Amino acid sequence: MLDWEQIFATRSSRMRASEIRELLKLLDQPDIISFAGGIPDPALFPDVAFKEAYSDIFSSAQVGSALQYSVSEGYKPLREWIARDVAKIGIDCTPDNVFITSGSQQALDYLGKLFLSPNDTALVTWPTYLGALSAFNAYEPNYDQLSLNGNRTPEAYRDTAAKTGGAVKFAYLSADFSNPTGETIDLAARERLLALADELDIAILEDAAYQHLRYDGEAIPPIMALDIARRGGIENTRTIYSGSFSKTLAPGLRVGFVVAAMPVIRKLVLMKQAADLHSSTINQIAIEHVASRGFDAQVAKIRSVYSKRRDAMLAALDKYMPKTATWTRPEGGMFVWVTLPEGMDGAELLAKSIATEKVAFVPGKAFYADSSNANTLRMSFSCADEAMIDEGIKRLGRLVSNAIRTAA
Ligand SMILES: Cc1ncc(COP(=O)(O)O)c(C=O)c1O
Repeated sequence: MLDWEQIFATRSSRMRASEIRELLKLLDQPDIISFAGGIPDPALFPDVAFKEAYSDIFSSAQVGSALQYSVSEGYKPLREWIARDVAKIGIDCTPDNVFITSGSQQALDYLGKLFLSPNDTALVTWPTYLGALSAFNAYEPNYDQLSLNGNRTPEAYRDTAAKTGGAVKFAYLSADFSNPTGETIDLAARERLLALADELDIAILEDAAYQHLRYDGEAIPPIMALDIARRGGIENTRTIYSGSFSKTLAPGLRVGFVVAAMPVIRKLVLMKQAADLHSSTINQIAIEHVASRGFDAQVAKIRSVYSKRRDAMLAALDKYMPKTATWTRPEGGMFVWVTLPEGMDGAELLAKSIATEKVAFVPGKAFYADSSNANTLRMSFSCADEAMIDEGIKRLGRLVSNAIRTAA
């Protein structure tokens, strides 16, 4: 039999299904309360608005171009809409600075491909978005821990990268309501990161997938906006901002985007021509149709529902979790990050939880580039109603309390 591994490229060796994915397959059982997903609630999709959008497209002269090949940069009216939307948060750019991708996940793949030669270093927060690690892994980088409190010098990053035979290329992070922790980076840390990036002469990849999902607290300018303000214009920035319609409108259409200086956009366009020519023409038109007619109302609706679910999860954690556990109090997004006492293992807990309490979550170690911190859990509140959240956390609290007692 053919030994496929012998002829696969070396980059494929890091493409592996995790044991966690295997466990999460069990979630199809109907009696499980799941906090694992991290996906939007389908009940909140603007399906009527999309039906209208597609119906308008099909009953107009636009149908021919909507079903045709189109430019790699993306649908111009959508790029114009995005340029206006990001201007509201201080990202002053032209539509030419906006590049449409098939979901913001594709942006991560392209940016990995654009920056990382084998053994280069990507700085990522510990923990970070698992999908970013999967996207970058194909380009065979090393990872180093991005510290946002300023306690590592530029030399420390440079030395670590040199030891593994490459250079530091970028720092990747979500500044608002990150996946997996739900945390937001404060203004001082954003400014510090810009200074560090200057010292190291690297790019900053700002993943803003959850940008619109703020439930309370003061909005902080995106790193991209701070960068533009410092340098007097987008063409002088080193930040590359990626956004998505997946969490606000619907992920199934696969429409995301990048905002960056023109030299970066021009390369991304060439990469897209080689990879998939362009993102779905008709879906881009439909997204622009729905966004331009009712984006703010849709965002207000989902914020109102998710903020109540966030509140319900935090209240239930306060009520049922043992005092030796700690968790984040996110101001937005979809996630709460729970840290259990040292020595506990989230993956073992998940196996027990599915078998006995019928509650699912994602064990946290998958989000660490070095697979450390097994005593953490990612809990998503986006898809469960408040009663389910209370019941699920009650069961989880019982399981964790028992596990702590048994270990003592
Ligand atoms: C932080 C982050 N970035 C990017 C993505 C990718 O989303 P999409 O490709 O649907 O835009 C996700 C999806 O969960 C995410 O959580």
